[in-house]
Amino acid sequence: MTAPEIYARKGQVPLVCLTAYTAPVAEILDEHCDVLLVGDSVGMVVHGLPSTIGVTMDMMILHAQAVMRGSDKAFVVVDMPFGSYEAGPEEAFHNAARLLKETGAQAVKIESGPTVHETVAYMVQRGIPVMGHVGLRPQAVNVDGGFKAKGRTESERKKVIQEALDTDAAGAFAIVVEGVAEDLAREITVLVKAPTIGIGASAGCDGQVLVTDDMLGLFDWSPKFVRRYADMRGAISKAAEDYAKDVRDRSFPAPQETYFAK
Ligand code: KIV
Repeated sequence: MTAPEIYARKGQVPLVCLTAYTAPVAEILDEHCDVLLVGDSVGMVVHGLPSTIGVTMDMMILHAQAVMRGSDKAFVVVDMPFGSYEAGPEEAFHNAARLLKETGAQAVKIESGPTVHETVAYMVQRGIPVMGHVGLRPQAVNVDGGFKAKGRTESERKKVIQEALDTDAAGAFAIVVEGVAEDLAREITVLVKAPTIGIGASAGCDGQVLVTDDMLGLFDWSPKFVRRYADMRGAISKAAEDYAKDVRDRSFPAPQETYFAK
């Protein structure tokens, strides 16, 4: 997979994308996905942070390196963390170049904002494929006062559409559309040339992405738009319960799990 190949998938077979943060999980997901996203959701999902604001460049590099070791075929995109691209295009370029150089990943993702057009254009013109992200922007949690669906009022709707158009015109090869109503997701998908990848944005997009840990059922709670394909929380809890019982009643380790002198 390459960025132009993903761009060419507009309106074709839907793009399959999942998040990955570690080598073994990337290895399992790789054959099923077109795109693996090393999302800054890693801060909340793996490190227990309350939002993605505390995620650093070093954290993204470490997790992206692990994902690259586990993946072979999928296109790997790394999120630029909060504070690494908003100040201006040059700083964004240097941080993006560092992410690609030190990890081997193929592209970066940034959330849209007032400077999205010049930042995306600056990076793309200098050889960095960029995925956009419009609608609900988790890195805007503090100004928005929480993780809130977007585009519910006419002015907000216009703003989201404009951000998508700007991101598209600047040369993004794909655009994540998060937390918007179906009609807005469909309108954006028709208006932009790049494929849209929805999360909580209906089947009207050109592809879908989910946070893997959500769809594996690792948490008690997950948003309405998540479909749980497994109950990993239940499976891990049951395994730990069985292990604890076996240790306490001395049925683990058994002879077949023990080394003996020859
Ligand atoms: O960080 C992330 O995992 C993301 C997805 C939710 C799209 O940005």
